[in-house]
Amino acid sequence: MNIEVKTICCIGAGYVGGPTMAVIADKCKHLKVIVVDLNKEKIDSWNDRDLTKLPVYEPGLKDLIQRCRSKNLFFKTDIKKAIAESDMIFISVNTPTKKSGLGAGEASDLKFIESSARSIAKFAIGDTIVVEKSTIPVKTAEVIKTILVSSQNEFKNKSKKSFTVLSSPEFLAEGTAINDLLNPSRVLIGGDDDDAINSLVDIYKNWVKEEKILKTNIWSSELSKLTANAFLAQRVSSINSISALCEKTGADISEVAKAVGMDYRIGNNFLKPGPGFGGSCFKKDILNLVYICKFYGLNDVAGYWNQVLKINQWQQSRLTNIIVTKLFGTITNKKIGILGFAFKANTNDTRESPAINISSELIIEGAELTILDPKVEEVSILKDLKEFIINKDPSIKVENQVEITSSYEQIATDADAIIILTDWDDFKKIEWQNLSRLMRKPSWVFDCRNTINLNNFKESDLNIWKLGFGSNINNLK
Ligand code: UDX
Ligand code: ADP
Repeated sequence: MNIEVKTICCIGAGYVGGPTMAVIADKCKHLKVIVVDLNKEKIDSWNDRDLTKLPVYEPGLKDLIQRCRSKNLFFKTDIKKAIAESDMIFISVNTPTKKSGLGAGEASDLKFIESSARSIAKFAIGDTIVVEKSTIPVKTAEVIKTILVSSQNEFKNKSKKSFTVLSSPEFLAEGTAINDLLNPSRVLIGGDDDDAINSLVDIYKNWVKEEKILKTNIWSSELSKLTANAFLAQRVSSINSISALCEKTGADISEVAKAVGMDYRIGNNFLKPGPGFGGSCFKKDILNLVYICKFYGLNDVAGYWNQVLKINQWQQSRLTNIIVTKLFGTITNKKIGILGFAFKANTNDTRESPAINISSELIIEGAELTILDPKVEEVSILKDLKEFIINKDPSIKVENQVEITSSYEQIATDADAIIILTDWDDFKKIEWQNLSRLMRKPSWVFDCRNTINLNNFKESDLNIWKLGFGSNINNLK
């Protein structure tokens, strides 16, 4: 399909669609870029004059939006019109794990992909290139193709239309999305139509060196995305498993990670222990991989990858148990401060955040929590906790046990413990001596992200527990 691309549209204005299209608009001033979403509130926020109200927080995003919005970047709800005027359409909708039916709990729910494909089938005019950007199970392009091809037949008497489907998974990580989009380690484009592939290459060529653009068959492209996420998640589970062994043996996880990471074959990225991985992709993608493996009868392979998820869950339960044990085995009516609720620093996203699981378990154990996160809204925190707790103990009223604050003093006042769950830079600047004075004694700090410099604690009378530090004297208190 050889077409000159002038207008592109992205279905889905979320964490992937919004930032990706902002970068394309900024780098390709000759293109008109329209981002559409079913969610009117979200589109209104993308259009808000107050740039602090954008629905996605990402360093650098505000500047891009300011430069491009209403010039060549538009956020709209009129999906029909946007599809009709576009030459290339990106599908960037969410693909959550199925909650019920066949493959429940493992397979991805493709209902949003399917409805996007049906909208494209109905409203597109002429030749259109469709690009799957959402992380999806292998062979999803086939679903999209089938829907589009059958529409070609259905609508052929009314208007002439034809489609080419490409897979171009997005590898951006939240918190560094703009930098990842501007300097990608690679851009992957899968498909079998060279002209259509080159049309997408031409867009990326505006800022990405051609040697970084990989062209593959469509299934390799889809499977590469799942595999990359599975490998990354596996590293996190690996280092977290060793953090537990460090605590038992007297080794120090930061020393072990450094020594291991200096081997160039292993590399030093993704070796930070923590309360487990969160985010919208890792768990969902591994579940998907497990499902696909089982489907093809590769049960041992499925079991191998499932273990990465098990360790992730285990790490969260392990930390909750350590906290309760250190606080004399009971936390009923004890006040505990939680620092960080996002699944990682520099994002307002809480999807699959370990903070949800850990905080909820502490609430169920009877604790009163005060929670501070620099970017996550109060409503999101309460919604996440309620959704988790309702399935475990519907009698608990979350609001009675949780306060959200932006004040470190409030976090510390009368608290028995403070738990660091997200690696925000702000937490590195905390004056612990000052907070210590406000806490009830004996008081604890549980650093589950190893963000604290132990030297800052020398003068304070806090008990400190650091993840993976067997040699930390306070760990042994
Ligand atoms: C991930 C992939 O990195 C990205 O390529 C893909 O497109 C989407 O999924 P994201 O989930 O946004 O990105 O963040 P990432 O930086 O990968 O972190 C995922 C989780 O692992 C976070 O909870 C993070 O705190 C945790 N993590 C990461 C660690 O605990 N230790 C590490 O060393 C690295
Ligand atoms: P991601 O992290 O993959 O970007 P998000 O949940 O942040 O996921 O964003 C996906 C967006 O896709 C949501 O805002 C959702 O409303 C939107 N969406 C889902 N289905 C459709 C559809 N058929 N048409 C338009 N937008 C859709």
